[in-house]
Amino acid sequence: MIADMDSLKVGLVGLGNVGGGTLQILIENKEQLAHKLGIPVDVAMLCSRSVHRRKLPAGAESIARTTDWREVVAHPEIDVVAELIGGTGVASEVIEAALANGKAGVTANKELMAKRGVDLWQKASESGRPLAMEASVAGGIPIHTVLREGIVGDRIEAMAGILNGTCNFILTEMEKAGRGFDEVLAEAQQLGYAEADPSADVDGYDARSKLAILAALAFGCRVPVEDIYVEGIRRVSDVDFSYAAQLRHTIRLLCVARLSSEGLALSVRPTLLPKSAILASVSGSYNAVWVKGAYGSDTFYYGRGAGPLPTGVAVVSDIVHAGRELLSCRQNRVSPYSFRQLSAYRPAPPESFKQP
Ligand code: HSE
Repeated sequence: MIADMDSLKVGLVGLGNVGGGTLQILIENKEQLAHKLGIPVDVAMLCSRSVHRRKLPAGAESIARTTDWREVVAHPEIDVVAELIGGTGVASEVIEAALANGKAGVTANKELMAKRGVDLWQKASESGRPLAMEASVAGGIPIHTVLREGIVGDRIEAMAGILNGTCNFILTEMEKAGRGFDEVLAEAQQLGYAEADPSADVDGYDARSKLAILAALAFGCRVPVEDIYVEGIRRVSDVDFSYAAQLRHTIRLLCVARLSSEGLALSVRPTLLPKSAILASVSGSYNAVWVKGAYGSDTFYYGRGAGPLPTGVAVVSDIVHAGRELLSCRQNRVSPYSFRQLSAYRPAPPESFKQP
């Protein structure tokens, strides 16, 4: 492929929380990234609606800027386009155009990948370019890599996760400090955890997209996101926490996937957890995923699920991964899923839903 590359050129589309964190890491960690990849990773172009007005980190002043994403995907020297704008409209166009123009695609966009990930991978595969999406689920926890590579030899039977940092931050603060829902949500927005429209967080839709992606990775099935049962945290109150405490339990927004002979049960909902459960100890914006394999049994993954830098690390890692693939001269790209092909989703009947 591009074996004679002397640097990896990156275009960033979107400079919000995740884009800003990604840019900071690409600049500050430039030296080590070059040692890891073997060639320098250069940011060749920045794109956002406010790119000409915003203050950029030191070292980024000389990077070309544009407000038109088409300039990034058409840039002849750019090897990797990172889509960090979110949503499913323009974001989808950016990835498709990047792949069609022979660029690798990297995205942090869970909504897009939950709804269109398989089609986009198909396009990437046809164009012979990598497509990577680690940052779309659980921020700084490399759960995609775990499912795709680390424990690919196992057969996953169940999974439970705290996949929304904003909800976990809100629930923890309500429980610990007795703070009100709106006040904590405003803080989560300030800290860069919450989605542009925070109802995606508090009504569970963000977590639902992430569960759909993890289900595809873990169980090899194509799950229509709308089919996943979802219930957000708006109705959780201080009274619920005091009853939970009397029972030595706590409340977390839990994403659960369980495979049985009846099918796959998937749900996102506030769940009572015994205080002794490992997931109950996950506080603040942290995320965690418990995975149960038929052979390896339990594994548990923990880390910051939201925020510009933890999510930025996942994006930058994907950029390095894409660079390695481009340098490897392989014709067949490594799929962002664990299964070569995803099968149809066979939902389990709701009465089979159990707590993990
Ligand atoms: N709003 C998301 C969260 C950001 O709070 O988890 C990371 O996907």
